[in-house]
Amino acid sequence: MVSSSQLLLLALLGLTAVSATPVVQQAGSEQFTSAVSHFLQAFKSIMPCGYGDVPVLAPIVSPFYEFNVTREDFTAVGNVTNMRIQGLDSFQVLSASDYGKTGEAAYDLLFPKIQLLGFAEVDGFINMGGFKLPIRQNDVINEALFDLRMVGSYSFANSLTNSSGLRMVDFKQTIYLAGVELDNWNTLWNISTNNFWNRWIKTLLPLALEEIQPNVTNFLYQNFLVPKVNDLLANVSMVELVNFIQTQAQLWANANCKP
Ligand SMILES: *[C@@H]1O[C@H](CO)[C@@H](O)[C@H](O)[C@H]1NC(C)=O
Ligand SMILES: *[C@@H]1O[C@H](CO)[C@@H](O)[C@H](O)[C@H]1NC(C)=O
Ligand SMILES: *[C@@H]1O[C@H](CO)[C@@H](O)[C@H](O)[C@H]1NC(C)=O
Ligand SMILES: *[C@@H]1O[C@H](CO)[C@@H](O)[C@H](O)[C@H]1NC(C)=O
Ligand SMILES: *[C@@H]1O[C@H](CO)[C@@H](O)[C@H](O)[C@H]1NC(C)=O
Ligand SMILES: *[C@@H]1O[C@H](CO)[C@@H](O)[C@H](O)[C@H]1NC(C)=O
Repeated sequence: MVSSSQLLLLALLGLTAVSATPVVQQAGSEQFTSAVSHFLQAFKSIMPCGYGDVPVLAPIVSPFYEFNVTREDFTAVGNVTNMRIQGLDSFQVLSASDYGKTGEAAYDLLFPKIQLLGFAEVDGFINMGGFKLPIRQNDVINEALFDLRMVGSYSFANSLTNSSGLRMVDFKQTIYLAGVELDNWNTLWNISTNNFWNRWIKTLLPLALEEIQPNVTNFLYQNFLVPKVNDLLANVSMVELVNFIQTQAQLWANANCKP
């Protein structure tokens, strides 16, 4: 018979085991999360202007862009002109765990609204229950993504080549999309066909998001989280990394970008 006091003891031991998982505490770790938080705010501030090799990101303007998507039940070949994506600089940091305390840098970023505007020429088809419905359209694009949320985490371990250096490990990120609003307009179509198409895109977009998920993660990881430091991380200590992030944030803040 297991007595209730033994159960309590087991439960407490269980707790100890959980909190005893190794927490990496490189010197300088306590400043990491606040440095990153300044970095993100400073990054947000330069998005309308660009800085060095960071292009203008608020808005992103793309004069011409071609695409060719093939899925089992959907193909689309075409191009988009005068694409404009705005709202990327409106992100909010909902939460961020303190790496110095937890040994895990976790974040929760929210983009309340991202607006896409442009003009598309598309050729393709949608397979609906065996019928290949052709898509051939000239479209005014007016779409908004609501509450695009990125939840992720990563951690640092010692570099494999230099025990004083760092290595980013356990990078994970998931993207959630709460809603899509579409008011695209094909001038060749009547109202009901336009509404039908807008409803279709609403269901296709989350699928597309699933598809690009690994690429988005890859893109952020490669370009933003540890911009140029990634290459050097092996020979960079936590103290040096925190200094780099603070210096970069300061440079961006000093750029004094006023949209
Ligand atoms: C689109 O991609 C498919 C398959 O990759 C290819 O066969 C086709 O030629 C491409 N179309 C255009 C217009 O590039
Ligand atoms: C854009 O795409 C449409 C539809 O596929 C095509 O007819 C047109 O030639 C393309 N325009 C350019 C500049 O490639
Ligand atoms: C709109 O166009 C579609 C496709 O041409 C047609 O089937 C439908 O009857 C039209 N609806 C109205 C209300 O005219
Ligand atoms: C994702 O990346 C892979 C390899 O980099 C590429 O082949 C693929 O086309 C990309 N997919 C999308 C949807 O961008
Ligand atoms: C780290 O430093 C060593 C010795 O200076 C060098 O050989 C190596 O390429 C550096 N590693 C990286 C990733 O820069
Ligand atoms: C290893 O990393 C430390 C910490 O930044 C650095 O000072 C040292 O130069 C690096 N060693 C080599 C061989 O690059």
